[in-house]
Amino acid sequence: MTAYEPGGDAVDRIVDSIAETATAVRDGLASDRTAKVGTNPSGERQEAADVRADELFEEALLAHEGVGTYASEERQELVDGGSGEYHIALDPLDGSSNLRSNNAMGTVFGIYDAPLPAKGRDLVTAGFVLYGPITTMVVARDGVVADYLIEGETPERLADDVTLPEDPDIYGFGGFVPDWPDDFTAFAREIEQELKLRYGGAMIADINQLLTYGGIFAYPGLESNPNGKLRLQFEGNPIAFVFEAAGGASSDGTQSMLDIEPEGFHQRCPLHVGNTELIERLEASLE
Ligand code: F6P
Ligand code: MN
Repeated sequence: MTAYEPGGDAVDRIVDSIAETATAVRDGLASDRTAKVGTNPSGERQEAADVRADELFEEALLAHEGVGTYASEERQELVDGGSGEYHIALDPLDGSSNLRSNNAMGTVFGIYDAPLPAKGRDLVTAGFVLYGPITTMVVARDGVVADYLIEGETPERLADDVTLPEDPDIYGFGGFVPDWPDDFTAFAREIEQELKLRYGGAMIADINQLLTYGGIFAYPGLESNPNGKLRLQFEGNPIAFVFEAAGGASSDGTQSMLDIEPEGFHQRCPLHVGNTELIERLEASLE
């Protein structure tokens, strides 16, 4: 059981590049704020910051011999990097619509040792960068979750063994409430009586406060789209991997998200993560 160690083995050095690139992404956010570009492969508005972050990560990651593929939420096709054994899926700038209102955003990464699209069980390391008041990075590797400050040259470890607090405190559920299926709505009505609402519209910011305070986050399947909004390769699998390593649970409604058989790069999935007891209650409510 080893946490990510800056300058360590090939996987750690890939994470080093993500941390280094994230500081460049952050440095350009102010100037990216006014420019607009187009639409991403999932049909969502793409900001200049999304495109710039994607290009910076692509260049940094394909420079590694160990990287065989770079796949990103911002591009239709994966990029072939050669014969490397690691396949990287990235959401370069999660929650980029928060740039306009100057709220927190993130970068999500999954390092798989199987060709993409892959199962969450094929992840060797996953994590995220949070562009909050300070820039931090959470990395899950070998069942250990650690938190790093990434404002200097080298990531500085802030917490060694991040675990989900046992007493849940907060919840955040995405989607338009009238679009929630009745069984999810009934579950939400119960949770509202027990936990405090925290929802900011950028998954990474919401997920990081969940890791800090305990509780449950969901972007459920919707009446209009039973697979919800979030994407399995770039968002669902990495976040589930972090939460399960931190002692929590994940579910697509019936099983761990890490067991979902992938069907495509841009496939969406209902996402529920948090304290195990709450995820079990959610699954019982959706039966
Ligand atoms: O990546 C998609 C995303 O921006 C997530 O970061 C966030 O959780 C979600 O969309 C917010 O969606 P909504 O605006 O529907 O709450
Ligand atoms: Mn996202």
